[in-house]
Amino acid sequence: MHDLTTKFRRTPAGLLRIVLFLVLGMVWMGVATQATYAQSSVRAPGNAVNLPDDQGSANTLGNVSDSEIWDAIRGGNPNAIEALTGPRPEGAVFNTTGQQWRMLREGVIRKYLGWFPLVVIGLLAVFYLLRGPMRITGGRSGKTIHRFTLNARVAHWFMAGVFIILGLTGLMILLGRPLIAPYLGLEANSILTSAAKEGHNLFGPLFIIALVWLFIKFVGSNFFHIRDLKWIFKFGGFFGGHVSSGRFNFGEKTWFWMVVLIGSVIAATGIVMLFPWLVEDVRWLQLSTILHAVGAVLLIGVLFGHIYVGTIGMEGSLDSMLKGEVDENWAKEHHDVWYEQMTGKSAKEDQS
Ligand code: HEM
Repeated sequence: MHDLTTKFRRTPAGLLRIVLFLVLGMVWMGVATQATYAQSSVRAPGNAVNLPDDQGSANTLGNVSDSEIWDAIRGGNPNAIEALTGPRPEGAVFNTTGQQWRMLREGVIRKYLGWFPLVVIGLLAVFYLLRGPMRITGGRSGKTIHRFTLNARVAHWFMAGVFIILGLTGLMILLGRPLIAPYLGLEANSILTSAAKEGHNLFGPLFIIALVWLFIKFVGSNFFHIRDLKWIFKFGGFFGGHVSSGRFNFGEKTWFWMVVLIGSVIAATGIVMLFPWLVEDVRWLQLSTILHAVGAVLLIGVLFGHIYVGTIGMEGSLDSMLKGEVDENWAKEHHDVWYEQMTGKSAKEDQS
């Protein structure tokens, strides 16, 4: 049994089978959810709501039409609702934030937020065309220095894997209607977004584990230092010039704290949405969906910058997360203070 699972997991074909299995599982759950939804008495999309008047009977408000009541509710004005329906019973509150929440989600978040990651990709593409990759000035020395333990690297790639799955499925849930439905149809969109939702709910809790693990492994080297000010004033050396840095530079530290802080908000609001009975007031749920989406899209956008610097943007960076070792010349050039602490040698005198 152990041999079988190890073989299944370690080969690329085995990994592919696991991914295929997960995707098929998600699609199956999506189809199943849709089937249950269609059979249930819940209002299916496109069906009319059965208000009392639709069935021919008069509503309890006499000469006030249903549409006037709904307009007043949609307007979100408690006085207008009260003027139509009469004084509310003592202690009762009209919840009028639903419509405002819907307008914010449909009109602002869905319409504009999705552009942020695309703008970041565009800026990175322009930067790459103008500046090209940051090469190791002295070339590779061939000598390496230890940077990350296996445990730290697994923590990083576990977070990366979970985050990418959640990012993709989350964007499908948020943007499926405007981006998928017009091309593949409403039916296909509802199956795909239901599948994405099942996958998102399944992987969501893993994000909390990934976040705690990443925090424990990396927090020690991510406290800000007075020398980080120089990094800010010199734009991190991206436009030329050398900038002194410890194990992590200001940009990396900012990314770390963004992941931790925004990630915590995403995790907390995710829990509220997964277990809605935890909160009494529906407005917490509305706030959660907004914060969750804004936080996630913000992190996804900045993630592209992180991936850029970690891969094609800076020669020698990816070695650290793949092998745990970096070239000595890379270390001297980008993290000179850390190099000196690690080797006891001067980064300037010892340029090879
Ligand atoms: C597939 C995409 C990714 C690539 C190629 C990548 C690459 C890298 C590389 C090369 C480093 C080491 C940089 C160094 O040695 O100085 C690093 C560090 C790090 N990465 Fe990623 N990464 C990816 C995805 C992610 C994701 C999704 C997250 C979190 C949401 C993340 C969070 C971090 C953090 C927190 C660090 C440590 C930086 C610090 O503590 O200041 N990475 N990454």
